[in-house]
Amino acid sequence: MNEVRPFAGKIAIVTGASRGIGRAIAVRLARDGARVALCARDAAALEEARAEIELGGGAADVLPLDLRLPDAPGRLAAFAVERNGRIDMVVNNAGATQRGEFEALTDDEWTDGFALKFFGAVRLTRAAWPHLKLARGAVLFISGIGGRTPGAQFGIGGSVNAALLSLTKSLADTGLRDGIRVNAICPGTIRTQRFQARLEKLAEAKSIGLAAAELEFLAGAKVTRIGEPEDVAALAAFVLGPEGSLLHGAIIDLDAGATKTV
Ligand SMILES: NC(=O)c1ccc[n+]([C@@H]2O[C@H](COP(=O)([O-])OP(=O)(O)OC[C@H]3O[C@@H](n4cnc5c(N)ncnc54)[C@H](OP(=O)(O)O)[C@@H]3O)[C@@H](O)[C@H]2O)c1
Repeated sequence: MNEVRPFAGKIAIVTGASRGIGRAIAVRLARDGARVALCARDAAALEEARAEIELGGGAADVLPLDLRLPDAPGRLAAFAVERNGRIDMVVNNAGATQRGEFEALTDDEWTDGFALKFFGAVRLTRAAWPHLKLARGAVLFISGIGGRTPGAQFGIGGSVNAALLSLTKSLADTGLRDGIRVNAICPGTIRTQRFQARLEKLAEAKSIGLAAAELEFLAGAKVTRIGEPEDVAALAAFVLGPEGSLLHGAIIDLDAGATKTV
C-alpha cells in the first residue's frame, strides 16, 4: 500500500520547534512529507529536533533566532524562501508568558509576553504572506484555552492568546481574498517541560508521588487526561492538510473538556 504523504513538496515554518508542542508539530509535518524550517533560540536543541526528523526520513532546515527581536521573523521567512523558494505553511507556536498575580506583573513582563507570541507571530505572518499567497497556503496559530478562560494567574498569557484569536478571525477575512487559510488551535494542558515542573511542585507540596499528583491535577482541572504534544501535532496536520480544507477562521479547543462554556 502507498504511504500517504499529504504535505509532499510543501514547505512549512514552525516556530518554537526545538521542544514541546512545536517540535511535535514539526516532526509530524515532516513525517507527512513537508520540508520544515525550524526556529527557536537554542541552536543545539534545534539540531536535536532536526536529527529526530531526519531519523524519520524527513527533511528540515534550522535557524536559531530570538523571535522577540523585530527583524527576526522577517529573517526566518527570507531563510525559508532562500532555501526552498516557497512557503506553504506557517505555524506560529513559540510562546512563553510570565504567570503571576496582576499587581506583581511588571511592564517588562507584559511587553515580553506580547513581543514573542503576538508580535513575533504578526511579523512572521506578514513577511510570509506574499509567499503564502503564491502557494495558496495556510497559517496556524497555537493559542491556548487561556485566551477565553484565563484565570487570575494568567493575565499576560490569556491576553496574548485572546489577541491571537482576534487576529485569526481578522486574517481569515484577508485570507479569503488572498487564498490563504487561517486557523487557531487552543490547547488545554499538554505534557511539556512546563507541566512536568508544575507536577513536581504539586507532588512536593503535598508529599505525594508524581502519579498521585497527576490524578489530583486531573480531578482539580476536571479534564479527562493530560494532552500529549503529539495530540496537538495530529490536529495541526489535519487542520493544515487536505482533510481540514473546510476549516477557515476556526478556533478549535483541544483541551480534554477543560472549557466548560459554549
Ligand atoms: N504546554 C501547554 O500546556 C500549553 C497549553 C496551551 C497553550 N500552549 C502554547 O503552545 C505553545 C508551545 O508551548 P510548549 O508548552 O510546547 O512550550 P515550551 O515547551 O516552553 O517550548 C517553547 C518553544 O518556543 C521557543 N522559544 C521560547 N522563547 C523564544 C524566543 N524568544 N524566540 C524563539 N523561540 C523561542 C523555545 O525554544 P528556546 O527556549 O530555545 O528559544 C521552545 O522551542 C506556546 O505558545 C504555549 O503558550 C501550551
